This record gives sequence, structure tokens and C-alpha cells, in this order.
Amino acid sequence: MKIFIDSADLEQIKAARSYGILDGVTTNPSLIKKAVGKMQDRGEQVDMRQYLEKLLTEAGDVPVSLEVIGSDYEAMVRQGRFLYKTFNPVAGNVLVKIPVDPAFSRDSKTHFEGIQAIRTLTGEGVPVNCTLIFTPEQALLAAKAGASIVSPFAGRVDDYLRKQNHISFSKNDYFPPEGMDAGEVSDIGGIVSGIDLVAECADLLGRYGHKAEVLAASLRNPRQTREAAQVGAHIATLPFAVIEELLTHELTMEGMQLFTDDVVPEYAELLES
Ligand code: E4P
Repeated sequence: MKIFIDSADLEQIKAARSYGILDGVTTNPSLIKKAVGKMQDRGEQVDMRQYLEKLLTEAGDVPVSLEVIGSDYEAMVRQGRFLYKTFNPVAGNVLVKIPVDPAFSRDSKTHFEGIQAIRTLTGEGVPVNCTLIFTPEQALLAAKAGASIVSPFAGRVDDYLRKQNHISFSKNDYFPPEGMDAGEVSDIGGIVSGIDLVAECADLLGRYGHKAEVLAASLRNPRQTREAAQVGAHIATLPFAVIEELLTHELTMEGMQLFTDDVVPEYAELLES
């Protein structure tokens, strides 16, 4: 499974890249707000164009998803073309992120405009990561429209189910893939957890041979990351802290201490000579 960093923070991208395991970067308007806010708090003036260029250069040869902000077909296509044409030349690594359904309410006339925008952009050779997916059906339509990545938001499904059942939780808390054993609301459209959503998306696309990769998004802890891999996600996008946590274990640290304490001087002299 590929590991992406879910961040627009230049230092975090640089650090994750230095570990030698980074396969990509995902951003969204909220992540850009956070990263820009941090820079402004340090007194830095942010030139958005230069900042995005730095971000793409920092990512280097791995793909970076940049999201449109429009909520109708015209705006999404215009912004998608702009993002790709302006920023792909920097490092050749831009994917445009398009919401599967840009509507804000059920009355909206724009429900299908995300899919239409994906079809238009991919037809022009712009690679698309389709975002904000909450059902396998949405993933299927996005893949049919030509998206090369589809992004089910696992963590937000778990948040929703806990909220519906009035369960208090912290953002990074573990939620079991099999869902809640008790509670008034056990599923959303038949989906019982975020990992269940990822599994259903991977299963459906795999069953029909779609080329789109399933990117498990909105993951909040290492165990959920492992489960995303186990159910067939091609990619997991992770906050920087979760990438670091993937490597950390108290028994590994304890083992290090024990081995270090046991080193005999002869062995140390040989290795350090
Ligand atoms: C994915 O591309 C999104 O940026 C992201 O994973 C959303 O995560 P969140 O639900 O923690 O905001």
C-alpha cells in the first residue's frame, strides 16, 4: 500500500519525504488554511503561488493533489484546468481533486456536476483524485467518469456514527471495522464503519476491473491504517503524526534499551573502529 501525507505543511512534507517512504501528498482547503495560518503566526507573508510551487517542489517526484473550490461544473473545470496548467509544470506531479458531489443540499441542481467535471478534465488528460466519497456507489461513478484515484473518507464515517449515538470521542480514537455492537444508529447506508467503506469501495472497483486506485482518506491512527491495507486500499493518506506513529512501539524502544545495555566492549570497539 502506498503512503501519502495528508498535509499542506512544507516542513511536514519535507520531513516525511526524508524518511524515504513517501508516495504522495494530499491537500484540501482546510489543510492549506492550517499550514498558511502557521506561517502567518510566525510573521511570514504568504504568496499563495510561491507557496504552492514550494510545496510541489518539496514533494518532488510524488503526486500532489490540489483541490478546486468551485461548486458547479464551470468553476470546477476552470479551476482544475488552471491548477494543472499553472502548477503541473513545476514538478510534473499535480492531480486535481474534485468533489464527487459539489452540492450543499439535496435541492441543489449541481449533484452530477462533480462527475461531469471529472469526465471533462480526465478527457483532457488532467489526472483527477475524486474526493469526499462516502458510498461505494459514488466511488463507482467517479471511477467510471475517469478518476485515477477515489478517496473514501473513513474517519468521518466513524465520527458520524459515534455522534449519532452520542458517544464522546477524541479525533484519533480507534473505531472497529465491524462497527458498533450496540447503538441506535449502526450504519449509514449499510456502511458500518470507515474501514467498511474502504473495503466496499475496493471490492466493487476490483470486481469490475476499474483502474482507479482506492485512497483511504481521513485515517486517524495506525491501527486504522493497517486495516485499510488489509481490506485492499491501494493508498492511505495520513496526517504527519500518524506516519510517525506507524513506526513507534514501546516494545521496540524497550528492546533497543536492552540490546544497548548488553553490548560488550569488544563488540563496540569492533563496530565503532
Ligand atoms: C483526504 O484527501 C482529505 O484531505 C483528508 O484525509 C480529510 O481528513 P479529515 O477527515 O481528518 O479532515
